[in-house]
Amino acid sequence: MKSPAEWARTGKLIRITRWDEPIMRSQTRPVTVFDDALAQLVADMFATMAAADGVGLAAPQVNVDFAIFVFNCPDADDKLVHGVVCNPVVTLPEGKARRLVSAEEGCLSWPGAYQPLSRPDFAICEGQDETGASIRIEGTGLLARCLQHETDHLHGTVFGDRLSTRSRRKLDEEKEHYAPLYPDDWPVHKKRTAGEVA
Ligand code: NI
Repeated sequence: MKSPAEWARTGKLIRITRWDEPIMRSQTRPVTVFDDALAQLVADMFATMAAADGVGLAAPQVNVDFAIFVFNCPDADDKLVHGVVCNPVVTLPEGKARRLVSAEEGCLSWPGAYQPLSRPDFAICEGQDETGASIRIEGTGLLARCLQHETDHLHGTVFGDRLSTRSRRKLDEEKEHYAPLYPDDWPVHKKRTAGEVA
């Protein structure tokens, strides 16, 4: 399997959409054709995710309404795991096996803002890779959170939807505070430094 850097080499940077744009709130279409155009989309997504310093990126975030995401994310053992998932289905532990962990969460489509959010500390994500082959990922730590977060995006859900009213308000305030650092077409144009904005 190609490394994220190998993927990114043939990818182009695409502007990352924001939560207040309609595509972020829509249900995506299943991926049914695993062709060169899909491979190019994957390359573009790896390039864009790396430029934005992200651990996961879903297709609606590059303005594409297909059910696919890419990730390059550490698990609970700090091991970096990467992959491509089309048509993901997430299974979460139930009953005694279900342990919720609260951790800071952020999103490239609401950049600069973080709030703690409780989620199960383990997730299984099943789907297909970019060739159509079946895949199954068992995620722990940040990876468990990432698999849930990215799959949410493909159903038009953002993590802000899962916050309390008070946490959501704080998140939006933080996003507004850092908004001057992010050009509208970020990461095509780089994030500004605090010095450039002052
Ligand atoms: Ni996100």
